[in-house]
Amino acid sequence: MSTHEHALPDYKEQSPEVAQRFSRIYERPIILDVQNLRKSYGEGENATTIFDHVSLQIHRREFICVVGASGCGKSTLARIVAGLDESTGGQILLDGKAVEQPGPDRGMVFQGYTLFPWLTVKKNVMFGLSIGGENEGIADAEARQWLEMVGLAKYEDAYPHELSGGMKQRVAIARALANKPRILLMDEPFAALDAQTRSQMQNYLLQIWKKVDVTVLFITHDLDEAAFLADRILVMGANPGRIIEFIENPVPRPRETPHFLSREFLALKKRLEEHIHPPSEEAHDNIPMIRMTEVGDDVE
Ligand SMILES: Nc1ncnc2c1ncn2[C@@H]1O[C@H](COP(=O)(O)OP(=O)(O)O)[C@@H](O)[C@H]1O
Ligand SMILES: [Mg+2]
Repeated sequence: MSTHEHALPDYKEQSPEVAQRFSRIYERPIILDVQNLRKSYGEGENATTIFDHVSLQIHRREFICVVGASGCGKSTLARIVAGLDESTGGQILLDGKAVEQPGPDRGMVFQGYTLFPWLTVKKNVMFGLSIGGENEGIADAEARQWLEMVGLAKYEDAYPHELSGGMKQRVAIARALANKPRILLMDEPFAALDAQTRSQMQNYLLQIWKKVDVTVLFITHDLDEAAFLADRILVMGANPGRIIEFIENPVPRPRETPHFLSREFLALKKRLEEHIHPPSEEAHDNIPMIRMTEVGDDVE
């Protein structure tokens, strides 16, 4: 067999099915339009640019994952979209309206558990509705409905400390969705969970996304997670932060294990690996060779 037959296809090579899937996605209206966004700290000579020239358009109900080296500004980008931080240049339109401050049209789920420990699960989910002036009876009924959606109806009267990490994040998702956001911003929401819970949470999230009219911007440093969840994967680079590439994920839905052994998928994975762990950087990571074994005890 020649090496040519072993070669992976080009990661951009698309089957007609994939091309068709994306053309359907691109027909949907643009919900989030980030235009030439810049973020820097400090002034003049002391200014540090976190990222620059960040532009992206996300379509309604798209699932976007953002990957990139630590420090490239992923969290900063999410915080600016959420209205929790200010940009230094450019603008963001959500449904055509400029984003300037936090609002119920954007829901956030962070890595850390951010539930209010003094409120029950249901009161946590009701929180946004209640401060938004919703009638208590309606807020109560809606909170229950969202808890059912994330499979936690039985726990409505429990307190956050009684729940596992995965359950807390499901409540956080219910709380974010209860405000009926146009976009759900998720910043490494499953990073603190063990591998098995994490995989369950990814499945839950896809099930929820299928049932709810919401667009997702999901930050992760886990390439497999991005490949499992995303329609498109936004790859960011660091120093200064910038968009390197927007990659269309060829893996069909619903996603099952055999898909992750396909040549298309392996080509995508290889491309992502090249961006995130460039070989030139790894060469600097060599640790000094200090021998602490007897000569002859070498392992491979
Ligand atoms: N208040 C601040 N002043 C100066 N630099 C900051 C401030 N907040 C964050 N940064 C820097 O911004 C960069 C991007 O941070 P962040 O958005 O958290 O990156 P990521 O989420 O991709 O790891 C980091 O290098 C961080 O040190
Ligand atoms: Mg971050």
